[in-house]
Amino acid sequence: MKAGTAILETFYQAAGQFVQNDELARLLKVPAARVNAENADLERLGYTIESHPHFGYRLLGTPDRLTDDDIKARLESFEASLKPRIIGSEILVFDETASTNDVVEHLAKSGAREGLVVFAESQTRGRGRHGRAWSSPRGKGLWFSVLLRPALPPAAASRITVAASVAVARAIRQTCCVDARIKWPNDVILNGRKVAGILTELRAEADEILLAILGIGIDVNCAIEDFPPEVAKIATSLQIETGHAQDRVALAAQVLGEFDECYHAALADFETVADEWARLCTTLGRQIVVAIAQRRIEGFAHALDGDGALLVRKDDGRIERVLGGDLAVKL
Ligand code: BTN
Repeated sequence: MKAGTAILETFYQAAGQFVQNDELARLLKVPAARVNAENADLERLGYTIESHPHFGYRLLGTPDRLTDDDIKARLESFEASLKPRIIGSEILVFDETASTNDVVEHLAKSGAREGLVVFAESQTRGRGRHGRAWSSPRGKGLWFSVLLRPALPPAAASRITVAASVAVARAIRQTCCVDARIKWPNDVILNGRKVAGILTELRAEADEILLAILGIGIDVNCAIEDFPPEVAKIATSLQIETGHAQDRVALAAQVLGEFDECYHAALADFETVADEWARLCTTLGRQIVVAIAQRRIEGFAHALDGDGALLVRKDDGRIERVLGGDLAVKL
């Protein structure tokens, strides 16, 4: 582990308390006289560290910049139950990409391992579902993709999206203390407006998923002017809803920790994830209309099935499994 990551991990574990110089030296395996220089390196990167002759050092502020070191340090500082086993095994941060989903696909073809996460501070060709553009302004959100190689048949791929929406909703609730909810199939909403979207893309053969690329976009500190006009009517950001800027790095780490847990559960015991999804979901129990290409399916949103498909009870009593589309709740 790099020295910077180790110091940050210690500071995050200390949760704002002082850490003694000797303690830092022991953890970093450097002479005590070297600790000050290591902290100075972090200060040059924008971290604010207070030093006290008796109490040692404490972290007072962090820069609003995504780095692999900082995200890893936060993941390492989590308690065992939230420390990821696979997700975030490798983390790459780009200043700008076309789409992080494409970067992950490219790296997957050269043998990258499951759990790789690629973040970008901005995307020039971010995409959403149905080929729509996804606006990804620099430094305002979390735009990232995760490489997965799930042992699932392609028909059960929606489980991944379900797990990811639970993880994003949990992380937003935990980090920003707001009532994030899920709108089927892949939107996380706050006060009825979309704050995050999920795009799961597959490379599969008839009976097995070769790889899944989970793309997540979270509008963290976007202002309303950052959204294209057609999106501004339905979108919001965590900053707009809470009234202040949110810590993107803290949220990124929390999402990865939560997703690691939800992903394992989705593979081994999908029912527990589906139950939590149902509790967070604003769609179930409502009269809905789903538009899929030229088709419209109307009915009562009844439940999720074991593959993560939505079961819609139509007016004639028949149940239809719906795997995608644009959903509207009927008033
Ligand atoms: C949607 O709601 O339509 C899904 C939006 C997904 C956006 C994310 S941002 C990171 C990743 N890269 C992309 O090009 N898209 C996803």
